[in-house]
Amino acid sequence: MILGVNIDHIAVLREARAINDPDPLQALGIVARAGADQITIHLREDRRHIHDDDAKKIIDSSPLPVNLECSVNPDIIEIVAGLKPHRATIVPENRQEVTTEGGLDINEPNFSNIDKATHYLKAREIEISLFIDPTVEAVRAAKTIGATWVEFHTGRYANIYAMLYSNLPKTHHSIEEFEMERSKLQKLLYREVERIKRACEEAVEFGLKVAAGHGLNYQNVKTIAAIPQIEELNIGQSIIARSVFTGLESAVREMVALVNR
Ligand code: PXP
Repeated sequence: MILGVNIDHIAVLREARAINDPDPLQALGIVARAGADQITIHLREDRRHIHDDDAKKIIDSSPLPVNLECSVNPDIIEIVAGLKPHRATIVPENRQEVTTEGGLDINEPNFSNIDKATHYLKAREIEISLFIDPTVEAVRAAKTIGATWVEFHTGRYANIYAMLYSNLPKTHHSIEEFEMERSKLQKLLYREVERIKRACEEAVEFGLKVAAGHGLNYQNVKTIAAIPQIEELNIGQSIIARSVFTGLESAVREMVALVNR
């Protein structure tokens, strides 16, 4: 299993004080030494964490391939084309969101914008992944557009899991949509895993490479990592959160061991 470590959250911590500490650049060697395979970063339109010069320095000096997440905004696509990362993952972006809340909307007019951005970056020899919801329609759209990879958004799975197996329902972070009896949540979780599995099978039948990510952590990752079609997981928040207590190298090593079990 390829593990991409999303290091945006190191920059989130830096931005809390708007100084230059901690520097996400320092994570590169540690993540590589801990056995991960890829660095993932997101250059958001509002530059709320990773900045242009972070992206440039990380791409220029990373010992691991860099997966750069970006929206289809033409200014951002132009920057990505200039940065030439190993891969660009096109994601939806909404200024108000705390994090990427769902997969790309593959209906018109968004389809045309994703299609245009994909062709522009592919022509510059940048591998393309599309961050999509685990649906057959989205997989078909990704195939039509000509992506090499699809990354399935596992946020819904992670939310249901957290409402079932953590104290989340008792906190002010409880997710209203999933406030229901445990037996119903269990059924929903089962159905969500089945939906992800079906989308994975469809993607592989279409010749697409399959990644997954969002909300994956040390508790919930096993079920997703066990899906045979999934070649890669991109994980950020849980690894950086654990690193506060155990150090980044140990947090990455633990995740590497879990996803390869
Ligand atoms: N994959 C993609 C495409 C993402 O946008 C993100 C961050 O939102 C992740 C993976 C990692 O998600 P998390 O930080 O919840 O692990």
